[in-house]
Amino acid sequence: MKLADNKATLSFSNGSPSVDLPVYQGSIGPDVIDIRKLYAQTGMFTYDPGFLSTAATQSAITYIDGDKGELLYRGYPIEQLATKCDYLDTCYLLLNGELPNESERTDFHKLVTNHTMVNEQMQFFLRGFRRDAHPMAVLTGLVGALSAFYHDSTDINNPKHREIAAIRLIAKMPTLVSMAYKYGMGQPYMYPQNDLSYAGNFLRMMFGTPCEEYKVNPVLERALDRIFILHADHEQNASTSTVRLCGSSGTNPFAAIAAGVACLWGPAHGGANEAALNMLHDIQAQGGVEKIGEFIKQVKDKNSGVKLMGFGHRVYKNYDPRAKLMQETCNEVLAELGLENDPLFKLAKELEKIALEDEYFVSRKLYPNVDFYSGIVQRAIGIPVNLFTGVFALARTVGWIAQLNEMIGDPEYKIGRPRQLFTGSERRDIGTVAKR
Ligand code: CMC
Repeated sequence: MKLADNKATLSFSNGSPSVDLPVYQGSIGPDVIDIRKLYAQTGMFTYDPGFLSTAATQSAITYIDGDKGELLYRGYPIEQLATKCDYLDTCYLLLNGELPNESERTDFHKLVTNHTMVNEQMQFFLRGFRRDAHPMAVLTGLVGALSAFYHDSTDINNPKHREIAAIRLIAKMPTLVSMAYKYGMGQPYMYPQNDLSYAGNFLRMMFGTPCEEYKVNPVLERALDRIFILHADHEQNASTSTVRLCGSSGTNPFAAIAAGVACLWGPAHGGANEAALNMLHDIQAQGGVEKIGEFIKQVKDKNSGVKLMGFGHRVYKNYDPRAKLMQETCNEVLAELGLENDPLFKLAKELEKIALEDEYFVSRKLYPNVDFYSGIVQRAIGIPVNLFTGVFALARTVGWIAQLNEMIGDPEYKIGRPRQLFTGSERRDIGTVAKR
């Protein structure tokens, strides 16, 4: 963080003395006004529900230019990572700041692979859930329960513990997500097979059975790997901020990541891929392309409560670069599976075209986000709709950990403790019950 030459001056119309506030510069992106001493200087807080203008941390991991539609992990454009690297390279990059060289790559892949199994007791814990439980409900529990199974890596202030917890989480998430799926299906769990790639192993644990050999389709493997890369991190989004806030109390890494899973579940965040596909299904059921006009009318009616899911973003005011890559993957997967005429894909493309020309969306700079097409890809691969957000959680785990570790290592880190503007009752006394 570099102090800028200029300062910000806050003045008051009631004659209170003005205060000078330091301004800091990042490497790219907007400067920030440092208000940490504001309360001590003025007795006032700032008010910013939803963090519309508040940087809650400094970070060197991910940068988004929302106007340009640019996403960089550690400086590398997402388009290059998605075409030149695999997910585990991306994990290494996010965790360590640089892409691995050949031997670092081999060692990292081996390390993650060595931790793919989960404690055998996990399956008995899983059995306590209803078979029809939502996989995100199950995953919130399973990830939180990891702290009960891996007591030797729960000290967030110990760098060795953080390192091993990071590897365990990245390695075990595919195993847990597929276990949650198999449990719901009533099928036997598949143990990880470590000579497969990260994505290939996940495909086998999801769709293989002990009765026959499972052959990984390289197009689907690559598509899944790309989904993982595109979802790996996204700077200070709701779930990442949740992980940071949760971890700021000194709780263990598994508990902090479980908080992230819970936050991701919501339809305004990771749950949007599920919501987007359900939306497409609904439009299709009501008549498909013919009904788009009517649907868009509902979306524009503020009283309807209907949103175009998979559209809009707090930061992107341009096409989400991940959506472009996801659309490309969508084309590849559908072609591989002979589903080029998939009605939902056609519907999604038509819906996108109409929305991008509509004044409502144009004036609000609402563009497709990553979730608009990721549901179609996942569905084509065979992943059930209610597991989409679980796949997102699997991929985002590395981002959560990288951000959590960055926070713990930051000398400016403090427990997160927002303030409030109190609007409730002033002090009052309890009277008799008869007078209430
Ligand atoms: N459909 C219809 N109107 C929308 C939509 C949408 N999807 N998104 C935003 N708007 C309108 C909103 O009603 C508001 O209109 P007005 O100015 O007339 O009141 C304006 O656009 C600005 O929206 P906002 O709600 O102030 O924006 P926000 O930054 O608070 O919300 C968002 C961002 C992603 C929650 C929102 O765009 C949304 O709910 N989108 C649909 C859900 C979705 O696709 N979420 C996935 C996000 S990307 C993956 C991830 O990060 O998890």
